[in-house]
Amino acid sequence: MRIPTIIGHRGARTNAPENTLAGLRRAHEEGATWVEFDVKLTRDGVAILIHDETIDRTTDGTGAVRDLTLAQIRRADAGCPAIFGDRFKGERVPTLEESLALLRDLGMGFNLEVKPCPGLEAETSRVALAVVGRVWPTGLPVPLISSFKAASLEAARAAAPDLPRGYLAERLEDDWISRARGLGCATIHPGFRHLTRAQVEAAHAAGMPVLVWTVNDPARAVELRGWGADSLISDVPGAIAAAIA
Ligand code: G3P
Ligand code: MG
Repeated sequence: MRIPTIIGHRGARTNAPENTLAGLRRAHEEGATWVEFDVKLTRDGVAILIHDETIDRTTDGTGAVRDLTLAQIRRADAGCPAIFGDRFKGERVPTLEESLALLRDLGMGFNLEVKPCPGLEAETSRVALAVVGRVWPTGLPVPLISSFKAASLEAARAAAPDLPRGYLAERLEDDWISRARGLGCATIHPGFRHLTRAQVEAAHAAGMPVLVWTVNDPARAVELRGWGADSLISDVPGAIAAAIA
């Protein structure tokens, strides 16, 4: 599996609304070849790109994702006016399917994070991977499927055994290598705060590339690359690419 050195986080979160088509385009404009994004299910079972349990922070609407239909969520403006003012007005919460269509047109790869609402751990993976299987072409990079939830990773393995899975953890637990191995994960995705050089080396000894998030500080990016971190997932992919060039 070829892992890119830089992955845009939720698109390119600092310079465009997170988990939107504008964000995916912005990552491409910054030179990223891959993006990370978060996937949840609407009340009517459609896979969409959104991070939080509610639409309140990232749109001008309100309510829990799991209680709202796609049509209801689409009425909300996802241009993140609190951060970007009117610059992205009219942006909508995208479906996974339309996001993949855009990435296909841009020739980009992706790390799909299954971010299920409670109780929907397996279903979110099943629906998301059905979409990937239906629309993602073979000529582009093989997607990487990650999750903090073991049940989502298990369901991803069952639904799409050939797609590599990434083991996500804010802080790697004592037994993280055996947990990741038990879930058949190909890669390790630790938060940058608690990561140690020894853990990067242990992952490599176990044959697993390390993708660190969310790395926005150029000095930290240089340090992590010095430790051998394979990929940096960043809100500012262009700036971090420049820092480690
Ligand atoms: O996949 C890396 C990172 O996105 C995990 O945390 O909360 O930003 O989705 P979060
Ligand atoms: Mg994420």
